[in-house]
Amino acid sequence: MLEPVKLKVASVRMLTESVRQLEFVRGDGGALAGYTPGAHVKFSLPAGERSYSLVDFEPVSTDDGIDRYRFAVQLEAQSTGGSRHMHDLLPGDEVLTVPPGNDFPLVAGKPALLIAGGIGITPIVSMATALKHQGTPFRFHYAGRTSAAMAYRAELEQAFGDQLTLHFDDQPETALNIAGLAASVGAEEHVYVCGPKGMIEAVKSAMEAAGVEPERIHFELFASAAEQAGDRAFEVEIHATGEVFEIPPGKTIIDVLEAGGVDLIHDCLRGDCGICKTDIIDGVPDHRDVVLSDAEKAEGKVMQICVSRAKSARLVLDL
Ligand code: FES
Repeated sequence: MLEPVKLKVASVRMLTESVRQLEFVRGDGGALAGYTPGAHVKFSLPAGERSYSLVDFEPVSTDDGIDRYRFAVQLEAQSTGGSRHMHDLLPGDEVLTVPPGNDFPLVAGKPALLIAGGIGITPIVSMATALKHQGTPFRFHYAGRTSAAMAYRAELEQAFGDQLTLHFDDQPETALNIAGLAASVGAEEHVYVCGPKGMIEAVKSAMEAAGVEPERIHFELFASAAEQAGDRAFEVEIHATGEVFEIPPGKTIIDVLEAGGVDLIHDCLRGDCGICKTDIIDGVPDHRDVVLSDAEKAEGKVMQICVSRAKSARLVLDL
């Protein structure tokens, strides 16, 4: 179990209308733990745990002794408290965190196709920085709604020049051609995608259709896909004890069960790491993750309880 670390806000800066950069130092003035590109830090916020990716335009060290951590956080229109809190922090404010972890690491020495959508740019920046520094070939695609809405646009153009291709939703001629990219993936190339659920699903299925093995497709969701308009309450029965919990809209199965004293294993809480996979004994899941295969989703025998909900009134879970 990693010891929690108190981080103190050192500086804040708005990157776009809704994206705020925050830099943190260690609350006690000491040095921070090192990490690898693609890593995130888990924050304990009043609304619960939230993970944010570390952003680096200079190569980082895996050795301890880093003086500051940098993040970029998008204020979500339907913030459940996490991004709102991060946007309200002021220099000097302190937050409890868990030292960096990495569920989205680069595969050493392999060429890379990097694809970022919106605020999914954060881990991808650090990956591109590391690849450039290592001299490993990479291609870098960054898509956003508009030019003005894309965090770090100017810095990225300066740092990565021709290796970077930008795509704007409001300029159809620049549209990201996912099928075309999939057809161009080299035999050794690994694909890394971070963005919204729809983008990850589109990239995964295009890559699979083009014959790219699943081991070469790496992905991370930038935000939880748990909540959707029209979500309704449902019940979860714990098979081992017969206890029944009601899961209201806005709360996940993990939120409710943990509050009720059930011990669960989880990590990303976004539906992309796979750790919270749970067997279903009865009921119909409403899958919201990006980690299960289409076949697993269609079969309906397992689910990711950090984000997925139910289509039936009750789920009986093998817990
Ligand atoms: S905790 Fe990562 S998929 Fe559920």
